Amino acid sequence: MISAAQLEEGIRYAEANYRDNDQGHLQVDKQLIRNKFDLNGAKVLDFGCGMGGMSMWYADNWDCEVYALDIDSHHITVARKVQEKHQIKNVTFSQRNILNEPLESHERFDWVFLNDVAEHISYDILEQIFRQLSQRLSPEGRILVTYPPWESPYASHVTHAVKIPWCQYLPQKMLTRLIEKNNQQIVGELESDLVSAYKGLNHLTHRRLMQILNRSGLTPVYRRSHSIINRLPGMRELNLSFFPFKYLITKEFLLLRPTTQVK
Ligand SMILES: C[S@@+](CC[C@H](N)C(=O)[O-])C[C@H]1O[C@@H](n2cnc3c(N)ncnc32)[C@H](O)[C@@H]1O
Repeated sequence: MISAAQLEEGIRYAEANYRDNDQGHLQVDKQLIRNKFDLNGAKVLDFGCGMGGMSMWYADNWDCEVYALDIDSHHITVARKVQEKHQIKNVTFSQRNILNEPLESHERFDWVFLNDVAEHISYDILEQIFRQLSQRLSPEGRILVTYPPWESPYASHVTHAVKIPWCQYLPQKMLTRLIEKNNQQIVGELESDLVSAYKGLNHLTHRRLMQILNRSGLTPVYRRSHSIINRLPGMRELNLSFFPFKYLITKEFLLLRPTTQVK
């Protein structure tokens, strides 16, 4: 069961992600989604919603209906608490593993978001998930995948603790010792500290993701590689995804449609 301290920390984290538009690791996601997409009237699936910050942000910013699921019970407990506290009506949170409890044929979505989820799931499972999601889209439905690629300075998810960008390239024994030395508890039931969070990463690159998507029946229609270079004056819109700039990418955005669109 989730402890009182975890609950409190989770609520703080989820509220920050729900409210703050100008800071935090989801700021770029929010900017891109707000500028490019219209979710009004849409059925939205927030897949791997975590503690629900983004799910509630979608619900708050658009007249849409959000179904938000996550495999981790602690995350869903936190999400429901925040939802209750802020009286957000148009979101339903569910603890669900869609490989054991597949989405049913009446569960159709105009938008499916995977914000910072794909890099946490093993490749074979990810392929099965994408295949199922591609079959649960409405006729014009789209999937947006956002993730830090493995080349990214922050891809290890532990940079804030060990204070070394690109630390994923250190010898793994040395890095494991460093993470253990700076270890922190986190809110998850399945991943409850930084060591388990690091070990749960699948080292996802754009190339690897494209192979998985090809096999899952999904085709990219738009790619944006947000990088450190975009912070420089006059460089905001640069989209550099090739070597050596790919090592400066902080977040990849890939918009997908089914390869064969079912009408
Ligand atoms: C880094 S968190 C991102 C949470 C949220 N999307 C956000 O942006 O704040 C990754 C989430 O993916 C969830 N996850 C991992 N594997 C999953 C699966 N097979 N099905 C559903 N959720 C999963 C984890 O439990 C975790 O909450």
